[in-house]
Amino acid sequence: MSPSVIKFFMSSSFKTFLKHTAKDFHNQSVNPPVVRASTIIFKSMQHIRKTQAKAQKNPIGGHYDYGRQGTSTTYILQKILTKLEESYHVFTTPTGFGAVFLAIFSVTRPGDEIIAADPVYSPTRLLTENFLKEFNIKTTFYNPHDLKTLEKAITKKTKLIFVENPGSNTFDFQDLGKIISIAKKNKILTAIDNTWGTPYYLKPIKLGFDMSIVSATKYYSGHSDVMGGSLAVNKKVFNQVKNAERITGLRLGPDDAYLITRGLRTLDVRLDRHRENAKKVAEFLSKNKKFKLLYPYKKNSYNFRMWKKYYSGASGLMGLKIKSKNINSVRKFVNSLKLFGYGYSWGGFESLALHQEFRETGARKYLKLAKDEHLVRFHIGLEDPKDLIADIKAGIKTS
Ligand SMILES: Cc1ncc(COP(=O)(O)O)c(C=O)c1O
Repeated sequence: MSPSVIKFFMSSSFKTFLKHTAKDFHNQSVNPPVVRASTIIFKSMQHIRKTQAKAQKNPIGGHYDYGRQGTSTTYILQKILTKLEESYHVFTTPTGFGAVFLAIFSVTRPGDEIIAADPVYSPTRLLTENFLKEFNIKTTFYNPHDLKTLEKAITKKTKLIFVENPGSNTFDFQDLGKIISIAKKNKILTAIDNTWGTPYYLKPIKLGFDMSIVSATKYYSGHSDVMGGSLAVNKKVFNQVKNAERITGLRLGPDDAYLITRGLRTLDVRLDRHRENAKKVAEFLSKNKKFKLLYPYKKNSYNFRMWKKYYSGASGLMGLKIKSKNINSVRKFVNSLKLFGYGYSWGGFESLALHQEFRETGARKYLKLAKDEHLVRFHIGLEDPKDLIADIKAGIKTS
């Protein structure tokens, strides 16, 4: 790709960078083209060999000889994300879960062990605890609020500590710096699922993680119309991930890359608003004695302190723990909401609600729910928060 076609404006402010990057001066378009290609054509065989030599010398330079390696459209997204993550490189995958798989597959081999946070996303738990067991890769889980359980689980075979922050559905915030120092002391690699905060609010590679995953399906795209994932890496693990990426063919297509790039233009604006709206809804929910709010809101709580220590902001995803002997009244409350859609995923412009059951939380070792405890997950969208609060208020009355 000719560097004169698409320019990356490096500015000190990321907000400005997102608006001004990747303009196409060749086609006189404010946005880059969608370059779809299986075959990439060259002027001569010599040009093919030259490109291949360049790719070998500079594997992150955007030199392609086949569409599976990407096109300028995927390269642009990778460059933007690399700057956002402040990482060595970012790999893009067809789904967020593809990025979870790629991270783990890149660095673990039969005989190795993984230690994962107890409240990881339940498909991540199924992958590590069940599927990888068949390949002689054993996973144990640690309690995110008691890192002694992490230290105790370390053996000579431990290869990877897999963190998700906050934990899925129970929103447990962890002492990330302490986890990194435990890992470094024991020469263990680290990966984090940073989908909740995105690098807009938390930069894991800068903090010391080796790999950082974001489901681009959520806030990066922001419009609930595309799936994708990103895996940011430091230099130490780059070659391992690059080899695994090549072998698995886990790469994002150009149309999806374009939509995610388009979403990223407004990432800061949307996340700032999600945060403001979520804060207002959280204020309202925290006053209700029926609920325990699962969001970094209550000052002095461990979760709040751990959030404040590492994050510059909070996204729109939160939970409620409801104590009730009557599951039907919880269901009735959720079902009565009119502005909240019922469905999976989150991070789009719209509000969503889910009554979480075992299917969503998985077989946890430490963070189990008591028999009369129920979880409800809210994604607070970009609607007027007054309307969302009125909707929840009406729901509470009917339950
Ligand atoms: C925390 C977290 N990580 C990863 C994923 C997987 O992302 P995707 O749905 O894009 O595969 C999800 C999806 O809900 C998620 O919530």
